Amino acid sequence: MPLWSVTGGKELKGSLEIQGSKNAVLPILAASVVGGGVSRITQSPMLRDVDASLEILRHLGCGVMQNRGEILIQSDGMDQNRIPHALMLKMRSSVMYLGAILARCGEVRLSAPGGCELGSRPIDLHLKALKALGAEISESGGEVCCRAKKLTGAHINLDFPSVGATENVMLAACAAEGTTVLTNAAREPEIADLQRFLNAKGASIRGAGSPEIRIDGFSPKPYTEHSVLPDRIAAATYLCAAAAAGGDVRLTRVIPEHVETVLTALRQMGCAIVVDQDGIRLRRDGPMHAARPVITRPYPGFPTDAQALLMAASLRAEGTSVFVENIFESRFRHVPEMRRLGADVRTEGRVAMVCGVKTLLGAPVTATDLRGGAAMVLAGLSAEGETRVFDSGHIERGYERFDECLGAFGAEVKRLEAPQE
Ligand code: UD1
Repeated sequence: MPLWSVTGGKELKGSLEIQGSKNAVLPILAASVVGGGVSRITQSPMLRDVDASLEILRHLGCGVMQNRGEILIQSDGMDQNRIPHALMLKMRSSVMYLGAILARCGEVRLSAPGGCELGSRPIDLHLKALKALGAEISESGGEVCCRAKKLTGAHINLDFPSVGATENVMLAACAAEGTTVLTNAAREPEIADLQRFLNAKGASIRGAGSPEIRIDGFSPKPYTEHSVLPDRIAAATYLCAAAAAGGDVRLTRVIPEHVETVLTALRQMGCAIVVDQDGIRLRRDGPMHAARPVITRPYPGFPTDAQALLMAASLRAEGTSVFVENIFESRFRHVPEMRRLGADVRTEGRVAMVCGVKTLLGAPVTATDLRGGAAMVLAGLSAEGETRVFDSGHIERGYERFDECLGAFGAEVKRLEAPQE
């Protein structure tokens, strides 16, 4: 298991191209089975979650080839509709296979998905929506079974704009007769990327990125090409890294609009940010101050996935920084780890309060989840001495070559193997 050794106190300088989006490619990989055919996906990030999804595709009977960021999937030979528990456990987004396999086979069986533990992560909204399309749902032995002789278009209103439920509806509705109208849909950029992929595959979907999405069926095409969107959370991570450590960095292959709320907070904290055609440049050479309260909300609000990252950048900011986590319960598990470095952070329910300290001191800490783990590496960059982040594998679920990317800015981050106990 990896152990990240971070030596802090060095300013970051340099330029970095942002990886393809994890949260965009995962539903796209699941979507590759809808309607069969060959999909060529480029700009895919090389991540453990992507490997887990490719393993699922192989298990389902698809042919899969991968050459770095390029993935070829031949899904005509798919002959399975059940995902074993061991494969499901590897990541949360395996739940996307619910809608995708249902659309392809009319029946799907899988167990509760794995992924980061961020409090209870139910899938009731997914199941309710699939039911509305005509699926029969049963549960036994820890497995969910969705079956439909025929799926029929429906008007579905989500009680909460869940990203995963929105994507599952888009996938399943491709196989429905008639039009599906989804309201209160999630508006994350990754949903628009899924729409682009499905439409290239032969679907007729409009509205992704807005709260209303219309799905008008599907006429399959034998070959689809798609280049994955840049990862806005990876971009936010490297921006927060430069804010935490200070310095002058440039990010390329990034869509500034997708990180607008993070840029706003970083500007409030005293970073100079310039957005131009080639990307984003961030400079921070003076002291930082607390930003206005950061409240996580569905897109276009401040992303929950960037909460821990911005908190890491706030630990030494003058004044009191306030974070309100509205999306997930239990998403402050990084806080006790931050305290080990000398940070002054308190939590009360969904609110965390950071009182900026002058110095942080390197210490051994744990990566509690994917973004929380990355946040500890960032905190280590602004601490004196060495911080060792013990990680059971979370960070590589979402970051490609994390040590090398931070190294491109001159940061001293090494990926070591933790000794087995
Ligand atoms: C996706 C992202 C994740 C991000 C999250 C919120 C992927 C692979 N993951 O996760 O990185 O943090 O969006 O932006 O894209 N909920 C229910 N019932 C459901 C579904 C969700 O109560 O059936 C609740 C969840 O428990 C959570 C909230 O809704 O509190 C948001 O979840 P959702 O938007 O579905 O997140 P994911 O799709 O799991």
